[in-house]
Amino acid sequence: MTPAGAGLIINRFPTCLPPPMPELQYIAYTSTASRDIVDADLQYLLADARHFNAKVDATGVLLFNGLAFFQYLEGTPQACAAVMARIRSSSLHHSIYELCCHGIDARRFGDWRMGCTLVDDEARWLALHDPSLWTTRVENPAPCEGLTLLTAFWQASIGTP
Ligand SMILES: Cc1cc2nc3c(=O)[nH]c(=O)nc-3n(C[C@H](O)[C@H](O)[C@H](O)COP(=O)(O)O)c2cc1C
Repeated sequence: MTPAGAGLIINRFPTCLPPPMPELQYIAYTSTASRDIVDADLQYLLADARHFNAKVDATGVLLFNGLAFFQYLEGTPQACAAVMARIRSSSLHHSIYELCCHGIDARRFGDWRMGCTLVDDEARWLALHDPSLWTTRVENPAPCEGLTLLTAFWQASIGTP
């Protein structure tokens, strides 16, 4: 006697279909400031960003070196899309370059509606922008090197991620 369904090959995720939508994802991107960004600009940007991020439950960190931004954002795909739409339409920056957009098992910056720090360590800044560090493989759930580097940097400069 064979159990019902025996001999049936069930391919749950056939290769012709996209992988299922992750519950959480992260996006890392870089951009160039459109003009001189003074402290008041940054404070306004952060207040506005944190207000919206709280509404959609998005978390992450923003790094600024005086000329360019690096941002890491995490949340549901819907939240990330809504935040990215606002980011793309901001007049404060241009040349947005997405380094990575990938599913993630858990938030890395869950306590930060948008943490922010200035970066004056040129070597670390450049390392974070290396696209090869942000390459992930769909079948590999381990965080990419870029995320590990960012977490270590944040821990060293701020404390807890
Ligand atoms: C580098 C950068 C990061 C931003 N991050 C966020 C964010 O995390 N969440 C959000 O809702 N908006 C974000 N924004 C949008 C800002 O809140 C918005 O640009 C700011 O309020 C000024 O808007 P304006 O340039 O269109 O006048 C970001 C904008 C920039 C330039």
